[in-house]
Amino acid sequence: MADRIGVLFVCLGNICRSPLAEGVFAHLVDRRGLEDRFDIDSAGTGHWHVGEPADRRSIAVGRKHGIAVSSIARQVDPELDRERFKWLIAMDQSNAADLLSLGFAPERIRLMRSFDPSVCTDGVGQLDVPDPYYGPGDGFERNYAMLDAACAGLLDHLFNTP
Ligand code: 4NP
Repeated sequence: MADRIGVLFVCLGNICRSPLAEGVFAHLVDRRGLEDRFDIDSAGTGHWHVGEPADRRSIAVGRKHGIAVSSIARQVDPELDRERFKWLIAMDQSNAADLLSLGFAPERIRLMRSFDPSVCTDGVGQLDVPDPYYGPGDGFERNYAMLDAACAGLLDHLFNTP
């Protein structure tokens, strides 16, 4: 449907953060009965994990909270994704910078945590959803809490933006 709002969640590998963000947002959209209003996907700026399912730790934390994390990793496709998605939601500032260098318009790029009204923005990095890949196991649980808070704000924002 042409009038769906396209939302692409973007991280580096598309196996940890953005598939979980996609699952959390899609779950929220379904719960509000808005699934035919959105085109939701995720992608990575890197190519290393293309074709793989999400990291088992993202799948596990999603399952624990009733969220299906079922995406298969793919790389951002600047031409196709520019056509398909109005909003590029970057997990961290480096992902956002990569999207800019790939030619996406700055006004379409947002940081995921900028939609969490409780986030304090007075320090470098606080708007980032940290990369949990090499970190301690609870990074995934902390990522989930950040995404859960930010996705509600994102949905409200999209319905207030023409
Ligand atoms: P993601 O995490 O960007 O949240 O999917 C990562 C996954 C893999 C790698 C880096 C980050 N990697 O270097 O392979």
